[in-house]
Amino acid sequence: MKGVVLAGGLGTRLYPLTHVTNKHLLPVYNKPMIFYPIQTLVNAGITEILIVTSGPHVGDFLGVLKNGKDLGVTHLEYAYQEKPDGGIADALSLAEAFADGDSITVILGDNTTDADISQAARRFKDGAVVFLKKVPDPKRFGVPLFDPKNPKNIIKIEEKPKEPKSDYAVTGIYIYDNKVFEYVRKCDPNFAGRGELEITEVNNYYINEKKLRWEELNGYWSDAGTFDSLFKSSSYWATQKK
Ligand code: DAU
Repeated sequence: MKGVVLAGGLGTRLYPLTHVTNKHLLPVYNKPMIFYPIQTLVNAGITEILIVTSGPHVGDFLGVLKNGKDLGVTHLEYAYQEKPDGGIADALSLAEAFADGDSITVILGDNTTDADISQAARRFKDGAVVFLKKVPDPKRFGVPLFDPKNPKNIIKIEEKPKEPKSDYAVTGIYIYDNKVFEYVRKCDPNFAGRGELEITEVNNYYINEKKLRWEELNGYWSDAGTFDSLFKSSSYWATQKK
């Protein structure tokens, strides 16, 4: 199993901070944001990692991460997403050669969690796994609609629905088999009306094939892509300092 951290996009919701560096290098309490998803992968035993990034500040990553050794990464690669805000699935398409036929655990670069995903990664055989978390504001996220007859099944996932069908967010942590690249190629930029290739469309392809499973994420989880969520994440991690 290899790991992919998606750290592209323009971070416009964090202007003016992101005029001078990439969003994922901003501090979440005492570390650059991207250290957290990398640490989640390394803690799960995934130490071969690809960082996909884009935008005007891509060079800043090397200075901060170097070859990743300090974080326990044994092999670090970088990929450059040409359309900086082409969407999460567009960023993921750049991981195909790196995955080299293997399964991948993907984490969005602005997600921080203290959950342990090592078991899920070890047990994974095929299809896709998404991790869900109950949230007070599901409208901001991908939201699952559960099968009323069997809530173990998700019928579909809606991206930022105006009327969410559950209280759960699909977090930005996913495990995929190699079919993911086939589904990425089928994505339509108009899927959620924001001109991006959406990871939610990819997940719906897995649902249609009855190949998507879910687990509830056990522990703290937040994104950090807005001033409020960045502040919330920083406050949480400040209380965890050893
Ligand atoms: O945080 C979880 C949520 O992340 C999910 O619930 C949603 O289903 C998913 O679409 C995503 O929603 P956001 O609107 O929060 O995604 P955002 O555009 O902020 O991008 C999240 C990360 O993905 C970002 O920190 C870096 C990466 N990304 C994003 C885009 C648009 C890329 O690498 N390239 C991109 O073009």
